[in-house]
Amino acid sequence: MILIQLCYASSRKKNRELLSDLKDILMTSTKFNRLNDIFGILYYAHDYFFECLQGERDVVEKRFQTLKKDNRLDEVVLLSKKEISKLSFNSWSMKYFHMNEKIDMFFKLNNYNGFQPTKLSFVDCDTFVDLLIDIEEIKFENKSFGLLANEKRYQSISKRVGYKRRGYKKGIIL
Ligand SMILES: Cc1cc2nc3c(=O)[nH]c(=O)nc-3n(C[C@H](O)[C@H](O)[C@H](O)COP(=O)(O)O)c2cc1C
Repeated sequence: MILIQLCYASSRKKNRELLSDLKDILMTSTKFNRLNDIFGILYYAHDYFFECLQGERDVVEKRFQTLKKDNRLDEVVLLSKKEISKLSFNSWSMKYFHMNEKIDMFFKLNNYNGFQPTKLSFVDCDTFVDLLIDIEEIKFENKSFGLLANEKRYQSISKRVGYKRRGYKKGIIL
């Protein structure tokens, strides 16, 4: 089995009902991703989505083709796609947030003109993913939703990942 990590960003179509879109995305994605062993994180801020997906290559690539046609998204930009030897996440989570200081700083320090995930370079994209995981880990300490079935199943994988207990950290937070 070939595992990949795929990250993309997109601006959202304006004049749509944001909260109902987010709820709908959360529902479809959680269901599909769980059934198909896709893991990742989705962030939304300032009219932009950023998603990092990990899973079996064909499944992730096929889902990305569907995503590209999603009428809630404007311009979908593929930022990075690479083979990985193991998973770094063990569930899919979604977060809707207003600007976080650390993220703000990340975009400033890397000379982006504000929060513009569609412009992230391949290298910065990886660093950004690590930053998001770090931020989420901090929040998760206060907001544990317990282990989901899939998380239990993948504990052994996440143990091997070994980066700051990230394998235990994912909950679904909206
Ligand atoms: C920002 C964004 C992120 C999404 N992420 C996922 C995802 O991770 N997994 C997924 O199955 N669908 C995701 N979707 C939904 C898909 O684009 C698509 O609507 C859905 O997969 C269609 O499912 P269906 O073909 O089963 O009806 C996302 C949609 C948006 C707008």
